[in-house]
Amino acid sequence: MLNHIAIIMDGNGRWATEKGRPRIFGHIKGARVAKKIITQSVELGIKHLTLYAFSTENWNRPPTEVNFLIRLLQRYLARERHHLFEQNIQFKVIGDYHKFPSMVVKEIELTMEQTKNNSGMSLSFALNYGGRQELVQVMQEFAQKIQRGQMRPEEITEELVSQVLEQRSVGEPDLLIRTSGEYRLSNFLLWQATYSELYFTPVLWPDFSEDHLLEAIQSYSQRERRFGLTSEQIEKPDPINSLSDSVKELLFTSGIRGNEDSKVLAEKTFLGRSLAWSSSYETHLGPTEALAQQIQGGRE
Ligand code: FPP
Repeated sequence: MLNHIAIIMDGNGRWATEKGRPRIFGHIKGARVAKKIITQSVELGIKHLTLYAFSTENWNRPPTEVNFLIRLLQRYLARERHHLFEQNIQFKVIGDYHKFPSMVVKEIELTMEQTKNNSGMSLSFALNYGGRQELVQVMQEFAQKIQRGQMRPEEITEELVSQVLEQRSVGEPDLLIRTSGEYRLSNFLLWQATYSELYFTPVLWPDFSEDHLLEAIQSYSQRERRFGLTSEQIEKPDPINSLSDSVKELLFTSGIRGNEDSKVLAEKTFLGRSLAWSSSYETHLGPTEALAQQIQGGRE
């Protein structure tokens, strides 16, 4: 089941440089793409979306770029807050955002406060986030508890670490996407991504479209998540009879949104894709059902 998607949005600088523009143009376009992908994720019924927007290492960039990224974030939140609210999104931040200027901290906290009772998709921005730092903090907390006699070392289990991380940060992504042809985790969700399906695409983030997200989801839907088991031990998905109308509609019209005339073309595109998936999908399930199952729930 596909509940949680995490994305390393990479390639903004290269995209701008390729066009002979300053790197900040890439970030501006990147922020627009983030907005689009957030909306699409809501429409697809994704429950959690985590976006790597600023890493602990990003502070080492030239100060003008760092300042620009911070201002862009501030402006983005100020402008988007009501859209996030309208889409029933609950906005969260992972990482130590208190290192940002107070105006930015204010925007972050206002956005979290105003969306905290929303019940739709949870959207986490990773800001001044580092996976190692997060783990070090958890270790320090455990050590302090042990020192105070509130905990015994043997109580530290994988389950407890996962639980603590899920409470203070995010849970485990089912699908982790990295754009721009880089094949690294770059300190992102190190613990949580242990069993995530990784999807790398050469597409630079500013060029990442709704179709590219669907391609990543298609790729995910064709994988067998074994969690260390053998293929035979995995319970294969049951057939499901039909897609929900909203998901079907979204897939039909993906990339070819708009008027009714385009629907026929969209259906052809969709059929073409379906054939491509079914050739590699081993069960009797049609790829459409398989994808719907990933999105809507069901067994892995
Ligand atoms: C990587 O591109 C991206 C970032 C450093 C951060 C991501 C930021 C955005 C998508 C824009 C801001 C987003 C929001 C939602 C406000 P890069 O500069 O590392 O690209 P490069 O590897 O080509 O240099």
